[in-house]
Amino acid sequence: MLARVRSGTLVGIDAVLVEVEVDMALGLPYFNVVGLPEGAVRESKVRVVSALKNAGFTLPQKRITVNLAPADLRKEGAAFELPIALGVLAASGFLDSGALEPLLFGGELSLDGLVKPVRGALPLALSAKQLGFKAVMVPLDNAPEAALVDGVDVYGVQSVGEAVRHLSGEAPLTPYDRTRPVDAVAAAPGLDMSDVRGQQDVKDALELAAAGAHNALLCGPPGSGKTMLARRLPGILPALRFSEALEVTKVYSVLGLLGGELKLVAERPFRAPHHTISDAGLVGGGPQARPGELSMAHRGVLFLDELPEFRRNVLEVLRQPLEEGCVRLARANVHVAYPCQVMLVAAMNPCPCGYYNVANRPCSCPKRRVLDYHARVSGPLLDRIDISLETRAVDVQALSKLDVVERPSATYRTRVEAARARQAHRFKGHPGVLTNAGMTTRLVRQYVRPSPTAMRLLESAVRRFGLSARAHDRILKLALTRADLEGHERVQDDDVAFAINLRQLDRRDYLADARDATSLELKRAAT
Ligand SMILES: Nc1ncnc2c1ncn2[C@@H]1O[C@H](COP(=O)(O)OP(=O)(O)OP(=O)(O)O)[C@@H](O)[C@H]1O
Ligand SMILES: [Mg+2]
Ligand SMILES: [Zn+2]
Repeated sequence: MLARVRSGTLVGIDAVLVEVEVDMALGLPYFNVVGLPEGAVRESKVRVVSALKNAGFTLPQKRITVNLAPADLRKEGAAFELPIALGVLAASGFLDSGALEPLLFGGELSLDGLVKPVRGALPLALSAKQLGFKAVMVPLDNAPEAALVDGVDVYGVQSVGEAVRHLSGEAPLTPYDRTRPVDAVAAAPGLDMSDVRGQQDVKDALELAAAGAHNALLCGPPGSGKTMLARRLPGILPALRFSEALEVTKVYSVLGLLGGELKLVAERPFRAPHHTISDAGLVGGGPQARPGELSMAHRGVLFLDELPEFRRNVLEVLRQPLEEGCVRLARANVHVAYPCQVMLVAAMNPCPCGYYNVANRPCSCPKRRVLDYHARVSGPLLDRIDISLETRAVDVQALSKLDVVERPSATYRTRVEAARARQAHRFKGHPGVLTNAGMTTRLVRQYVRPSPTAMRLLESAVRRFGLSARAHDRILKLALTRADLEGHERVQDDDVAFAINLRQLDRRDYLADARDATSLELKRAAT
């Protein structure tokens, strides 16, 4: 007898339908699984047989063949164990095949017949909805994330026995109750812009970055509040829309990070990986081709603190995904893509001692070391950063003034949301483009029309500071964001001037004295 159970496997952050066919025939007892990688087959067989036995079912003494189709699709093992077990029961007549038809199944088994959580239950439920299934059956722990998808009943089960009793009608389960409140992961609670005294120029720059989703780099001496300010950025970003929250949550589902308290990632993520991270850890990869920190920051902020301390190759692999908004990985014969539309925010000291170019604090570094330090952040990466700013320590006076009330994050956020609304309106006819930072060159030409005076100003800045063609376009994008934020109907001259002024670190004159001193030193050594 042949039974069919439907399940799914992950390709990127989406689940693809997999048919589990179980054939039972007379002959010498035999149990085989085809269509899975070899290691997974061995483990799955042992767990299915043992789980069934412990749930009170003995495997019939027949030839049992399980086929997972399509055969050429690379599948990850464990989520098929529950479907295989149910298929075996259906093929041997314990279960009515018809009862399995309207459901999509996923679940790992333990030897004692319990159903254990799997990765990717959310994408599985999304596929179930798209494919027109009435319901999904997933491990109980995964039920809340699957229930984020409406229009599909979600049955969470804890054991094979419970699944069988539901399907046979002996003890039907009630679908997961969606009226329960969703536990969202809270953003760092209580981090507000008003905690930061002074630093209005940096706050304005971060507000601008948030308004157009521009990348930003803060460079300044120790204790100048770089880390403190960057951590407050998510609080001024526009709220996540539900559709965006689902996208982000899918990444966490694929990583198996949902469950317990975390069901829906409802706040923009803020990821701050340590500088010792590997390239696979950052952009994703490894033998399983899992998403990395970059994708975990999707629709939020990737914060790289102490930027020059990151390994060179790690920073290099960021370039392409930052440009494309997605990470492409190859694993065996499949290619997967993980989304990574992030704002990159980075912080660094201006030199190893921390005080290069800082008023009233001498820098103790040899000039050549200052250059080496900056060289660790490659030009192509710097090129992709629209706002690079020198920060100064807040002066004691500002710190001690108790009567000054700083503006709270909510006021910045309101302005940012208004600016984003203008962008949403502008890019209505351009699917995929959400923000000014995401404009193509063609869109820049179309929507940024500065006056001839402003263009001359930009051209002379490009020449004087030795900026690249990409920088030229990025300054125009930033100018448009400034106009959106300030409510200017069109880009004004001061918007362009403002944008030029926020590109402080990749100008030729920034390290000029260090370069001059170093070449003088070299010349002296040569003669
Ligand atoms: N403008 C400010 N208002 C209030 N507190 C501040 C301000 N600037 C700095 N501080 C205080 O100084 C501490 C250090 O700031 P922070 O860690 O952000 O500095 P940093 O620029 O990241 O330094 P480093 O280069 O050493 O990493 C903060 O935790 C905060 O207590
Ligand atoms: Mg810091
Ligand atoms: Zn120094």
